[in-house]
Amino acid sequence: MRDLHLITTEVNGTQHELVVESRRTLADMLREDLGLTGTHLGCEHGICGACTVLLDGEPVRACLVFGVQADGKQVRTVEDLADGEQLSPLQQAFSKHHALQCGFCTPGFLMLAESYLASRPAADKTEIREVVASNLCRCTGYQGIVDAIHEVATAQQAGPVQP
Ligand code: FES
Ligand code: FES
Repeated sequence: MRDLHLITTEVNGTQHELVVESRRTLADMLREDLGLTGTHLGCEHGICGACTVLLDGEPVRACLVFGVQADGKQVRTVEDLADGEQLSPLQQAFSKHHALQCGFCTPGFLMLAESYLASRPAADKTEIREVVASNLCRCTGYQGIVDAIHEVATAQQAGPVQP
């Protein structure tokens, strides 16, 4: 018999009631139950960080978190960054600095950076390099990613960042 749970979770500002199996990962719940396929699955072992989303504001590997653990919590995915066609400052900076090539890793880096800059708005490049080392990118060599995040950090220090 399948072990099912009714959970309530807020995803990107919308409340959802979902019935999920105990073993269902948050990543599968987001992608398959809610159709939010912006969260990518690479390794499914907690190594690559492509699946990084925010759970109550903290970055988590969605492949290592169970869907039931989102019960009563808020989830943010990469789909929440843009305002319609208007890209967020981080998304614009990634584009400007060529911080993505194939783009597979990009949602994870964006969500990691989103939470990091919220807690450390004046981050310098050394700090940013340490943080992004937790995620894997096979294309960019990381320099563009560091430059993009640092540009947003610098803009934040100068004042509120306009999308
Ligand atoms: S897919 Fe989750 S860390 Fe790689
Ligand atoms: S842009 Fe291709 S893996 Fe990072």
